[in-house]
Amino acid sequence: MSLNTSPALGVDALWSLCLALVKERRAGAAFSDLHGAGGLRWQGEGGWALGAGWDAQATELFALLKPLLDRPAGSPAWAVGQLGQSLNGCIATRGGDANYVNGEEVLTHLHRLRALCDAVIIGAATAAIDNPQLTTRRVEGAHPVRVLLDPALGLSPQLRVFEDGQAPTLLVCDARQAAQAADRVGREQVLGVPGLLGDDGGAMRVRPLLDALAERGLRVLFVEGGGVTVSRFMQQDALDRLHLSIAPVIIGDGRPGLALPAAALMRDCPRPSARVFRFGADVLWDLDLRAGCD
Ligand SMILES: NC(=O)c1ccc[n+]([C@@H]2O[C@H](COP(=O)([O-])OP(=O)(O)OC[C@H]3O[C@@H](n4cnc5c(N)ncnc54)[C@H](OP(=O)(O)O)[C@@H]3O)[C@@H](O)[C@H]2O)c1
Repeated sequence: MSLNTSPALGVDALWSLCLALVKERRAGAAFSDLHGAGGLRWQGEGGWALGAGWDAQATELFALLKPLLDRPAGSPAWAVGQLGQSLNGCIATRGGDANYVNGEEVLTHLHRLRALCDAVIIGAATAAIDNPQLTTRRVEGAHPVRVLLDPALGLSPQLRVFEDGQAPTLLVCDARQAAQAADRVGREQVLGVPGLLGDDGGAMRVRPLLDALAERGLRVLFVEGGGVTVSRFMQQDALDRLHLSIAPVIIGDGRPGLALPAAALMRDCPRPSARVFRFGADVLWDLDLRAGCD
């Protein structure tokens, strides 16, 4: 009889490996050169695989994060969106209070996504209402570049992200407004995107934004909210995955999460490939928007 006395590898060990991989990716290292990478194996097209000896929690976390970890250096822009919503599909009260729709476990997950992505992107209403820090303070790991979409240049230069110096911050506007934006928050905090706004006054275009971010080496993107922004990315086919975290709460007449064009028939509605993860009392749906919707 042989007794295996070695303790199972847990979430902390996995998280250290995740951070090491992201560091290598940002440094431009080829994943195929990272032989073994601790308890992970690079399988080429199959991405990373977990070796033996990991406990159940670490195995589940790896399964959830694998799509992000599998992005090799220099690969095309890739984006994961998230929305934390009530049972009836709202992400905040009508007045904008979203503190907190989800429990602690989901909040920690959001900070993990920030740490694994090159940039975190939010809409102007979220920036104005929440005045967030967009850091990784709940977990180990570097802060992402903070990207605020503000084509109308309505945001206050006194927002925390523009003043706290904790991480690089970019206010995104159309290139034609870049000088005006620079007067407000300083040239180094402005990303003027050619073609962000059309002459027709239509919605912000996401593709030119992705190109401009990729030019700065920002290719793995986390679209953290709110509903208008995530919906815009999805409608313009710029989201690869979506994490929808559903909390057992009902918000009367709240701000909507996904808001997409009307469908006439159920058979025309996409049913993306989906996985489910439990986060305390909340349920996270991980939707693969590229796997082909039945
Ligand atoms: N539960 C969650 O996961 C989660 C995540 C993030 C945010 N939130 C909450 O979601 C709410 C915001 O989401 P959202 O869908 O309404 O918008 P959003 O996606 O954050 O921002 C998009 C829109 O902001 C608009 N805008 C509205 N009010 C503004 C203001 N006071 N200053 C500057 N721009 C403003 C712009 O409108 P125009 O297009 O008309 O110019 C822009 O298109 C907040 O209450 C936030 O707390 C929840």
